[in-house]
Amino acid sequence: MDDSERPSRAWSTTLAVAILGVVLLATLWAAGALSATGAAVVAVGGAAAFHALRRGWFAEHARREQRRIEAERAAEQRLRMATSDAAAAAAAIDALPDAILDIGGDLRVIAANAAARERFGARPGAEIAAVVRDPDVLAGIDDAFAGRETVAVAFTLAGPIERHYEARLLRPSTGAGGRPRVLAVFHEVTALRRVDALRVDFVANVSHELRTPLAAVLGFIETLRGPARDDAPARERFLGIMQAEAQRMTRLVSDLLSLSRIEASEHAAPTDKVALPPIVGRVVDALALPAREKRIRIAVDVPATLPAVLGDGDQLQQVVQNLVDNAIKYGRADGEIRIAARASADGGRVALGVADEGEGIAREHLARLTERFYRVDAGRSRRLGGTGLGLAIVKHIVNRHRGTLEIESEPGKGSRFTVTLPTA
Ligand SMILES: Nc1ncnc2c1ncn2[C@@H]1O[C@H](COP(=O)(O)OP(=O)(O)O)[C@@H](O)[C@H]1O
Ligand SMILES: [Mg+2]
Repeated sequence: MDDSERPSRAWSTTLAVAILGVVLLATLWAAGALSATGAAVVAVGGAAAFHALRRGWFAEHARREQRRIEAERAAEQRLRMATSDAAAAAAAIDALPDAILDIGGDLRVIAANAAARERFGARPGAEIAAVVRDPDVLAGIDDAFAGRETVAVAFTLAGPIERHYEARLLRPSTGAGGRPRVLAVFHEVTALRRVDALRVDFVANVSHELRTPLAAVLGFIETLRGPARDDAPARERFLGIMQAEAQRMTRLVSDLLSLSRIEASEHAAPTDKVALPPIVGRVVDALALPAREKRIRIAVDVPATLPAVLGDGDQLQQVVQNLVDNAIKYGRADGEIRIAARASADGGRVALGVADEGEGIAREHLARLTERFYRVDAGRSRRLGGTGLGLAIVKHIVNRHRGTLEIESEPGKGSRFTVTLPTA
């Protein structure tokens, strides 16, 4: 950019032009070539014309100046980006969740990203055979150096928690004269494996749960058509058992359906305002009969002034129903069940507890109690008509409500299940 176009220079040019103009007019006036009025008219006209010209010139000048500043800024930015490109690439590779090892022809680590350093303890210079002690992966690395890239090798890292990986061994182009290198990329598939295992377990569990009552029903049908054909009292008894088994299968199917419905909606927290006292009342009424059969008294301490919670009324009723149902089934005959609810001091949460005086639950079972089909005593649960899904349903509903479930139990004394929910 030319210096003569800087504003300070422009001002001195203006001043010089103005002085020249005044001197010229004064000379013309002194020489009598101009009258005073003429000189004044020429001076004012000239000044106005010059002013207009200069404004146009300055606008153009300002635009050019703006463009110059923008171009300078863009150039600076390009420079900054170029110098930080290498650092940015390294940072990006470090941030990748996959463990990546850059291996040299001497079979030593050239570089390792953060995941590889953390999980495999890989350090530059370390022998690859000491970092990854897996014959398949090492053979894959040899193959890659020989020009045969391996698509995926299964690799398991032993430890307190086994981690499963799929390793890919790639030969990046190193350009002319570049030294040979192999990139080993370890993609973790532990979670996928776990889901697979869960699915297989789940199908096996459901089949088993259905097969037991089906086998019983089929057995009784056979007996009724054969030996017990004319035995009226036996027929009555067998039909009763068959009915109970069929009802349990129906409950199992409906529990499975509600579980999958709840799971499908688990990501969306419910938004209704729900009052807990009427829900507790309905559950106590519905379970009055089985409670009376075991001569269990249900004491309810749920104040009517309890703040409403943010929830789904039907699902919360299912939570209370499943907990009270368990308290009756596993509680002490002639004992008491206490249902109590309180708001937290800040009013942000409500805690609802269901306590029984049953035999309690040994500590080692507590953590697994909400797993599907987990029971302390499967035979007893089945005899009592249980599906093993009640607490799994409770857990999923509570999760959907962004609440918590706490289980306390003292073997021999009883158990208390407490659900905490956010208020509306
Ligand atoms: N109040 C309780 N007292 C003692 N054990 C309980 C109680 N509630 C649940 N359990 C144990 O947890 C298991 C799982 O409960 P749940 O998921 O409701 O299935 P189900 O009642 O159909 O067996 C029960 O089989 C029982 O062993
Ligand atoms: Mg139950």
